Amino acid sequence: MSDTSRRPRTTGKPYRRPKKDPVRMIAFEALRAVDERDAYANLVLPPLLRKAREKGDFDARDAALATELVYGTLRRQGTYDAVIAACVDRPLREVDPPVLDVLSLGTHQLLGTRIPTHAAVSASVELARVVLGDGRAKFVNAVLRKVAQDDLDGWLAKVAPPYDEDPEDHLSVVHSHPRWVVSALWDSLGGGRAGIEELLTADNERPEVTLVARPGRSTVEELLGEEAVVAGRWSPYAVRLSEGGEPGAVEAVRDGRAGVQDEGSQLVALALAAAPLDGPDEKWLDGCAGPGGKAALLAALAAERGAMLLAAEKQPHRAGLVAKALAGNPGPYQVIAADGTRPPWQPGSFDRVLMDVPCTGLGALRRRPEARWRRRPEDLEGFAPLQRALLRTALESVRVGGVVGYATCSPHLAETRAVVDDLLKQWPGAELIDARPLLPGVPDLGDGPDVQLWPHLHGTDAMYLALIRRTG
Ligand SMILES: C[S@@+](CC[C@H](N)C(=O)[O-])C[C@H]1O[C@@H](n2cnc3c(N)ncnc32)[C@H](O)[C@@H]1O
Repeated sequence: MSDTSRRPRTTGKPYRRPKKDPVRMIAFEALRAVDERDAYANLVLPPLLRKAREKGDFDARDAALATELVYGTLRRQGTYDAVIAACVDRPLREVDPPVLDVLSLGTHQLLGTRIPTHAAVSASVELARVVLGDGRAKFVNAVLRKVAQDDLDGWLAKVAPPYDEDPEDHLSVVHSHPRWVVSALWDSLGGGRAGIEELLTADNERPEVTLVARPGRSTVEELLGEEAVVAGRWSPYAVRLSEGGEPGAVEAVRDGRAGVQDEGSQLVALALAAAPLDGPDEKWLDGCAGPGGKAALLAALAAERGAMLLAAEKQPHRAGLVAKALAGNPGPYQVIAADGTRPPWQPGSFDRVLMDVPCTGLGALRRRPEARWRRRPEDLEGFAPLQRALLRTALESVRVGGVVGYATCSPHLAETRAVVDDLLKQWPGAELIDARPLLPGVPDLGDGPDVQLWPHLHGTDAMYLALIRRTG
């Protein structure tokens, strides 16, 4: 009789279902959303974390790890791509995006965290088994084992071109910024290697959370009485949250008397409010007010002087956010949805005007980990006419003797000095005021008269401010 029994189907270990690790699953889901839908990590992650907490078995430490994995992977994408490219035998663009996300997440755990090597590899392979299947998990395993053969410094020595041969390319790989961004930041910062390295390093660090005590509504002393709150650096209205501090735990923030606001933004509003005026000081305009951080501080400062603030914002839903930010302001204010390039208000009717124009946001890269990879040099051309039109409106809106503040959260010279210089050439009746004395105690403000703040020098976003007085 012939033997009809079959060969055993597998000769290796019995099949084991992959384990779902909620932290890595959430991190992967967030990375896919950023990659596939152009989502923002800071918007997509919180609901995922909330859902996981509601399901149970997911605590604050898990949430902190998931956040660190997503933000770290996105920030360091340029460096990690160079490392992964050295470990796969085909161009990265031929690797499926979900596979690349798992590899980047694994590479971050191996090179950018203290997670032990074996745990980083096995967690990534388990994740790959769940989201990619067993076949591609083998590929992930093989690549990550190669990545694990060296630490970050070792890899950088291999994959970054030498500084002396190509400084910008070297910095771009080592500090994970697109080359054109390195170049633009360096043009604006000036100086040698040390300064730009410090700036790029600061861009890769998580910013502190800063609060503003809105004048007349709360005080720094009140905020300092809360847990995990320490004094601010430059703004007399600022405090900082120490590690683990939650803005939502601060009562004054919950009821709108204080808010979350970078100190650089506070300084912009404070300098405009402090600029000397000839004549009355009664009507202030914020021409690009959404979502309302600077408008809320300006409105509170205006109220102390008996002045009113008109806050204008083009996008109706963002005008709604401004109204929310200003609610409860002790003095008079109005919020309108209006296009600042076709203003509905009378020319020459304001004493102080802020134009905090839309820009590339290259000064706030710390906050938006994916932004540096999304921005393109062409974006500058898109913003240029709008920035000029809005500054022109600001100059037309302020009365003779009044002051305009032109601000950006980008240090790119095409969005800062070039715009101001162009407008001043067209407007003989306007002159720059030295903004530096209006920021008492703030060091390293450059040669003036405009000011550029920097994350590595001031711990703020890289806000730019030019103050312009209309003289005729
Ligand atoms: C950099 S943000 C302003 C940030 C704001 N000052 C704050 O501190 O919260 C620029 C704002 O200008 C708005 N904006 C864009 N084009 C505009 C226009 N033509 N007129 C008025 N606002 C405009 C954008 O919607 C955006 O809310």
